[in-house]
Amino acid sequence: MTQDAALVLVSNRGPATFEDGEPRRGGGGLVTALTGLVHHRAAVWVASAMSDGDVSVSREHGGGSFEIELDDARYRIRLVESNPEAYELFYNVVANPMLWFIQHYLWDLSNAPDIRRHEVEAYEHGYCAVNQDLARAVLEEVEGEREAVVMLHDYHLYVAPKMIRAARPDVFLHHFVHIPWTQPDAWRVLPADMREGIYEGILSNDIIAFHTRSYRRNFLLCCRELFDLEVDEQAGVVRFEGRDVWVRSYPLPISAAMFRNTAQRPAVHQYEREILRRRRKHLILRVDRADLSKNVLRGFTAFDLFLEQHPEFKENVTFIAHLIPSRQDVPEYAEYLERIEALAAVVNHRHGTTDWMPIDLRLRENLEEAIAAYKHYDLLMVNAMFDGMNLIAKEGPLVNERNGVSLLSENTGAHEELADFALSVNPFDVQEQADAIYRALSMSAEERSWRAQGLKRIVTARDPGDWVDDQLADIEAKRRGEAPARS
Ligand code: G6P
Repeated sequence: MTQDAALVLVSNRGPATFEDGEPRRGGGGLVTALTGLVHHRAAVWVASAMSDGDVSVSREHGGGSFEIELDDARYRIRLVESNPEAYELFYNVVANPMLWFIQHYLWDLSNAPDIRRHEVEAYEHGYCAVNQDLARAVLEEVEGEREAVVMLHDYHLYVAPKMIRAARPDVFLHHFVHIPWTQPDAWRVLPADMREGIYEGILSNDIIAFHTRSYRRNFLLCCRELFDLEVDEQAGVVRFEGRDVWVRSYPLPISAAMFRNTAQRPAVHQYEREILRRRRKHLILRVDRADLSKNVLRGFTAFDLFLEQHPEFKENVTFIAHLIPSRQDVPEYAEYLERIEALAAVVNHRHGTTDWMPIDLRLRENLEEAIAAYKHYDLLMVNAMFDGMNLIAKEGPLVNERNGVSLLSENTGAHEELADFALSVNPFDVQEQADAIYRALSMSAEERSWRAQGLKRIVTARDPGDWVDDQLADIEAKRRGEAPARS
């Protein structure tokens, strides 16, 4: 792709949400990924106006694109306003929970979901409507542009590619899915029409991308099993409506330079002093959105078990759990947060003393505070049930200064890269996690150092620039009519 070809990124969440006109960094792994991307390539970033503050800022700019400065970088963004009821159905009924739950195997199928008229209408008048709004904005951005490339991101936007292709078949459509792609039966939860709509939408892209080889494999399997499409698994190609759709995997790296910079901010040092003043001999850390897929409850249960089985650690260890409240208008999420608070209270009550609280629950978003804790943990817990990539598993080892050990779920995307140096766990096996906590906190200094150095080496080997370049190279190759590189 030539350097001056227009590049449009599209995602539901943009790099910033606005409050009283002031931008605040958007949360989650996708924003980290795309921020890395726009550092390497000029682009306009089209996103939903998610809050009232976003809507005002969008209106101030007549719905068009504008520049913002955030975290020492400038972005051109365009915030797209949707009808509030449609947006509510899109975000709180279809994208989260329906699709998110399907793609993380979260439905407890004997109980939920019930698909009624409400859900079907939410798909038609919410999900498709918001996709249409974003597609329209994209079409305006690429008007008059030749060789434009549109990179769509994540599960919010599965039907937009079809809408864009119908109007502009010349535009190159690339879709990165940042979450797992589950196996065929998980998709059978959706009514056939909805399922077809979603696959037809995503297969309207030229390239579909995932973080891991295993999600890529699952996607190809779904195309064959659910729709009887012609699939070349070796080449990663699906034949759809007379076109070849490439299906690729590109594991997302983090930006070491950006993280190391942030780690030097005065506010981080301030938080570090606080952590050091209060720390016990050992510090366990987890940093997550308070999402069901992150498996917070089993993490606390494993810690509870560990304290029970190894009482010598009492008063010597603190577990800081930085959990960012997320998607609180979805009842399952609100209830999950309540269960987290209740379980932390039980564990603290069971083991705590008048001056020692085993679990230090921090329910807030504060990047600087989290980075300060990254520097000083002895054990980082990443025990997600299923997770597309999990960038915490990479950020922690990058800035940690104590040869901290990583406990890492084998069902995270990051595990494909970090398995050799982390303590791998089955996220459902609480005893194994309790044993891993014990092993990490009693590990020899040599082994800790060997593991920590190994993790650092892997997470610094590539950066988001390489990730972008690999994707652009494939876009270029496909445009030239080359065959896909086999993998
Ligand atoms: C995950 C998803 C992203 C999403 C982020 C935060 O990382 O892959 O698409 O933006 O979670 O979730 P939220 O609903 O707050 O945007």
